[in-house]
Amino acid sequence: MKCKKCGGKAVINMPQHNMGLCKDDFLQWLPEQMQKHIKKQKMFTPEEKILVAVSGGKDSLALWDMLNILGYQADGLYIALGIDEGISYSSESQRLTEKFANARGLNLHVVNMTADYGIDLPTLAKETRRGRDKPCSSCGLVKRHEMNRIARDFGYDVLATGHNLDDEAATLFSNTLQWNGDYLIRQHPVLAERDGLARKVKPLFRFYEKEMAAYTLLRGIEYIYDECPFAEGSTSTQYKELLNQLEHEHPGTKIHFFTKFLSAKKKGLFAEPTTKIVPELHICPKCGQPTSAHEICTFCRMMDRVNQ
Ligand code: AMP
Ligand code: FES
Ligand code: ZN
Repeated sequence: MKCKKCGGKAVINMPQHNMGLCKDDFLQWLPEQMQKHIKKQKMFTPEEKILVAVSGGKDSLALWDMLNILGYQADGLYIALGIDEGISYSSESQRLTEKFANARGLNLHVVNMTADYGIDLPTLAKETRRGRDKPCSSCGLVKRHEMNRIARDFGYDVLATGHNLDDEAATLFSNTLQWNGDYLIRQHPVLAERDGLARKVKPLFRFYEKEMAAYTLLRGIEYIYDECPFAEGSTSTQYKELLNQLEHEHPGTKIHFFTKFLSAKKKGLFAEPTTKIVPELHICPKCGQPTSAHEICTFCRMMDRVNQ
């Protein structure tokens, strides 16, 4: 297969775009495309300070790398959850994230659950019994809380995560299967700042997981290959496999599924009803972060419970 731009040997075939590219052209094309989506979706400007949530996986490291190449002011945030039983998932992903930051002289914030809150995530989930046997729902809650706290306390304009098209399509599939209206209304690559919640953006929302894997490989970025041990057998993994089967038969399925959803929303298909369905937020008296919970936020309640 030939590179569509220069006619040289293609290293990646992207049937969804009906093109193959050589290494140099692919490494130029991906950041350029991301820049286009950042502008089109009005995610942020070069003057704004970005906090990138970096997990040590390929997507968020590639995102940080590309923002850096494009000249944005982007610092990293790594949240050490203490998932280290069996495989050293957290310590290895932290090591790789720190290695990446140090090699490029980038600024990285590290939140450590055990050091900062006296408890690791698996223990916290067990003790508060959120989620029967998997800590994933507590994990999501902790990550959202900590990302917003660091973004706000350090004055960042925007919080960026490494969700790619495969992640977004799987989430959309799940929300559609359940006709989860509230989530469908809110699923978007840009969520505006509101009531103490930082603006959130997903600059990789148009890129296939396969493209991100090729990017990190070609750039020589070392990342953690293993998935979180708790992700195994999750419904989101099953949805990704299903969508991959469809994609294989009909290239472009995932990108059409997601981008057509966005255009349908723009045309008013999922217009916000006049009655308020987004819950009102108030400030948690303990941590000062916005919450829709009764008084004290769920995070602080969870922490109180384990500290009792
Ligand atoms: P996941 O929910 O694991 O699919 O991750 C989605 C995105 O959340 C990643 O691309 C990162 O931007 C962010 N993220 C996940 N885990 C962490 C972590 N431990 N520390 C910082 N950011 C994270
Ligand atoms: Fe949070 Fe797996 S990364 S439970
Ligand atoms: Zn709180």
